[in-house]
Amino acid sequence: MAESRQDFARLLNEARGGIDANYRDHGNPSFGQMIKLTGFDRTWARGEGAFLFDETGRRYVDCIAGYAVHCIGRSHPDMIAALHDALESGTPNWVQFERNPLAALLARRLSERTPGELDRVFFSNSGTEAIECAIKLARRATGRVALLHCDSAFHGLTLGALAANGNQKLREGFGPLGESESIPFDDLVALERALASRRFSAFLVEPLQGKSCRVASDGYLAEASRLCNKFGTLLIVDEVQTGIGRTGRFLALEHEPRCRPDMVVLSKALAGGFVPIGVTLVRRDTWAATFGRMSHALVHASTFQSGVLAMTAGLMTLEIHDRERLSEQAMRRGALMRNGLQECAARHSSIAEVRGRGLMLGVALRKSEAEQVLSEIPWLGALEKLTFGQGFVMEMLHTHSVLCQVTESHSNILKFTPPLVIEDREIAQVIEALDATLTKLGGGLSASAHAMLQAARHWSNARLSNRP
Ligand SMILES: Cc1ncc(COP(=O)(O)O)c(C=O)c1O
Repeated sequence: MAESRQDFARLLNEARGGIDANYRDHGNPSFGQMIKLTGFDRTWARGEGAFLFDETGRRYVDCIAGYAVHCIGRSHPDMIAALHDALESGTPNWVQFERNPLAALLARRLSERTPGELDRVFFSNSGTEAIECAIKLARRATGRVALLHCDSAFHGLTLGALAANGNQKLREGFGPLGESESIPFDDLVALERALASRRFSAFLVEPLQGKSCRVASDGYLAEASRLCNKFGTLLIVDEVQTGIGRTGRFLALEHEPRCRPDMVVLSKALAGGFVPIGVTLVRRDTWAATFGRMSHALVHASTFQSGVLAMTAGLMTLEIHDRERLSEQAMRRGALMRNGLQECAARHSSIAEVRGRGLMLGVALRKSEAEQVLSEIPWLGALEKLTFGQGFVMEMLHTHSVLCQVTESHSNILKFTPPLVIEDREIAQVIEALDATLTKLGGGLSASAHAMLQAARHWSNARLSNRP
């Protein structure tokens, strides 16, 4: 054991030493540059609960949480112990031709806590893979191909999921994609009109959109499930980001007891932030259309599905979720954070709206008149779009030690998805940080100018430090 720890330390040391050259020559240099320009380029030494620590020991409140992956908090000791035990037990991984006991138990536990009759469970390794599975099962069960999705939707970036993506920039150049149509989010009239064509195999929807941070109105999902049923389209509720307590319930769709989905997709937080996992929960009849005969038992499968570590992590996450009452905590702490953000909005006209639910919150920023004018000028406008939200993100990080983000498609929305174990005093720290940031940057051209100045500073620092 001691030897392997030394191996890890040695490999990490070598990796950190060679990062510039390795990224430049073999990684994604565009992404590397972005990380450098925004000043996110730090050596992250460790994570604990809602915190990240850099190599100097500086502590940051992590309101990105690996894109909502770290619900139970980083380095949870019970999870680490269980994963250690699993590794040391020698339980063989991926025997393949076996009935996998951990997978079957996790399937039962997940099915028992999801509403309706989602009895069958398919495991994979990411959100987008779990969506691919859902798309295939929907095609097979309905005999239809087209997908219906919402504007601003995000369901992943593999080819099937991309056909249901609401961001044109992410789709461009990758076609032809599968047949699909987009409708406005949270609009039942548009939904009924589209479904009435009886063209769609499935309607994919997030209860709370990850990119826009908009929440479906009360009753929307329940009515969507009734309409889908009426017109023979399957309802796929994408809980990749909202699942496992984030919105104050185990699943966000539980805010709507009458919603009866045909499939629910989970991923991100389910494995506690330690290993990848994807899950597609499916109604028995829909499942049977694909896998119902022995000759078809493996028509959809993947080598690495249901690994020992992923299944152990999934089971442990459920236990930790229940023991620490994380959904309740997300509800209470989310209300606290939301109130704080709303008080901020009352003090700062640069906040247009506070959105979200539980601990998945977004602050939609209003552009100043000057920024609005700038954004309409070709080229300069594109630069302004890139830099506006980043100005706030960078100030939150550099001055206030808070990690938050804007999304690719909504650069004016500051998004907060902290671990569900974040304490009240850290929530207060985040609100104070935002208050100070808005006082400094809200209005005029401050946010964009600040981002550009910071980027220039990081750029020149990087050049100086790269000099031989
Ligand atoms: C709602 C939703 N669905 C699907 C995905 C795709 O998941 P992955 O990145 O694991 O492929 C994401 C990722 O952010 C997501 O937020």
